[in-house]
Amino acid sequence: MDDRHDLKLILESRVPIVLVNTHDETRFLEFLQGITGEASAEDYRPLFRWSVTDGLQRLDIDLEPQLHNAAPDQVLKHIRSVEQPGTYVLLDFHPYLQDPVHIRLLKDIALDSQDGSRTLILVSHDMELPVELERLAAHFTMSLPDEQERSTIVTKVIDEWNLENTGSVKIDRKAFDLLVRNLSGLTRPDTGRLARNAIYHDGAITHEDLPTVMEGKYQLLNRQGVLSYEYETAKFSDVGGLRNLKVWLEQRKRALAGGAEAKHLDPPRGLLLVGVQGCGKSLAAKAAAGILGVPLLRLDVGALYNKFHGETERNLRESLQQAEVMSPCVLWIDEIEKGLSTGAGDDGLSQRVLGTFLTWLAEKSTSVFVVATANDISRLPPELIRKGRFDEIFSVDLPTPRVRADILKIHLKRRELQPEQFNLVQLVEASKGFSGAEIEQCLVAALYASHAVRQDLGTKHILAEFKRTRPLSVIMAEKLSALRRWAAERTVPAD
Ligand SMILES: Nc1ncnc2c1ncn2[C@@H]1O[C@H](COP(=O)(O)OP(=O)(O)OP(=O)(O)O)[C@@H](O)[C@H]1O
Ligand SMILES: [Mg+2]
Repeated sequence: MDDRHDLKLILESRVPIVLVNTHDETRFLEFLQGITGEASAEDYRPLFRWSVTDGLQRLDIDLEPQLHNAAPDQVLKHIRSVEQPGTYVLLDFHPYLQDPVHIRLLKDIALDSQDGSRTLILVSHDMELPVELERLAAHFTMSLPDEQERSTIVTKVIDEWNLENTGSVKIDRKAFDLLVRNLSGLTRPDTGRLARNAIYHDGAITHEDLPTVMEGKYQLLNRQGVLSYEYETAKFSDVGGLRNLKVWLEQRKRALAGGAEAKHLDPPRGLLLVGVQGCGKSLAAKAAAGILGVPLLRLDVGALYNKFHGETERNLRESLQQAEVMSPCVLWIDEIEKGLSTGAGDDGLSQRVLGTFLTWLAEKSTSVFVVATANDISRLPPELIRKGRFDEIFSVDLPTPRVRADILKIHLKRRELQPEQFNLVQLVEASKGFSGAEIEQCLVAALYASHAVRQDLGTKHILAEFKRTRPLSVIMAEKLSALRRWAAERTVPAD
């Protein structure tokens, strides 16, 4: 974690090119100035900074910038011609690495500098070196602030607020700890910025700040677009049935949040939900985030393949890493069988992708809780459902009469209708074999139908829609019983 020390060692090794990927340029330059300042007289080397806007400038002593050395080829030619030792920091040089002349100039300088006379330091947010230069280069990565440093950063923001305002920041201790925890994985300036956002709008740190902080964090981190932040999570009460699942999640809530009370509990890894279409698998994934009280990230497995042709595995790894940075969170993988089934004719790609995922699932130590859903059990690879991969496999079946009553109530209330004004017994009876989604659809259709004849929605309108509908469970009866047989042996009923 001691960046300054590591950087010093790299510089002392006199490698001609150092590649630095960081979003925290200011801090990096501070390190470098510190290290330069400490050097003994015989090791002392002047330190230069170049950017395309300011040209070349001495950093260790106060001198005017040399604007004539602003163009990338000019500055490289200049450095090449200089005989004296020196350290040259090139800021945001990455766009100019497209040019073969620049690459050759960099290589010329590096080859000439193998005696250790000059060091080129390339600093960007994200840069890869061309192969020609890779062998002449060392990489340096700035570490991100740890928990203690994040706490210091947040405290500093609190102090600033207190200085600028009368009174002092109202701090909910638990929310403060969670804030510090959730700011992990960000650079120092970003950590400070998000802390400021949380504190300055109301002069308080409360639990209400946390979702906004997580959204802000997601926006800072999201570069690939395979992972999306789902703003809509569901509440416990939005879901009819799934009692076992709800209890199971409640029991794991504390362990996922971490903290002292849950020290002896292994953080839960995740669950797989299989089952009938439209019975609330996706809804349950959203409710998991709601119940656990953490952000919901959705991994689009289809996009993994389409969006980045030939880079599927790397993108999966990056997305998983990103989810880890966002932890504690729920990582929702909808219709996992579509992305991870072992299809023929793809050169083993989906097999490798599956392998990458399973390794990660087995080894992850952070609080990323995976909720995967699957419709088509025939396409689920056996490796995925072997015991011990997920903490549990739940199956979601057609709703029982009691659950249908709940679902009806939930959706009536959502449309500001009073369930007491309907004959629920009749409706429950008439919706036998219907999925939650089908019940909802019938309700929506009944609303249109009653509206068309200018009547308030009544039981008869809904009954008429139920009658008109042939539920999937009838159309796909055979598939359904196969699914039930399969589930009986391998899964726990969600309700
Ligand atoms: N148990 C339930 N409680 C409340 N609403 C439900 C329930 N099941 C389904 N619904 C309603 O049906 C909609 C569709 O359900 P959802 O998308 O979660 O089903 P699914 O099992 O994921 O289906 P699919 O296999 O087609 O993806 C939900 O958004 C919700 O409005
Ligand atoms: Mg779904």
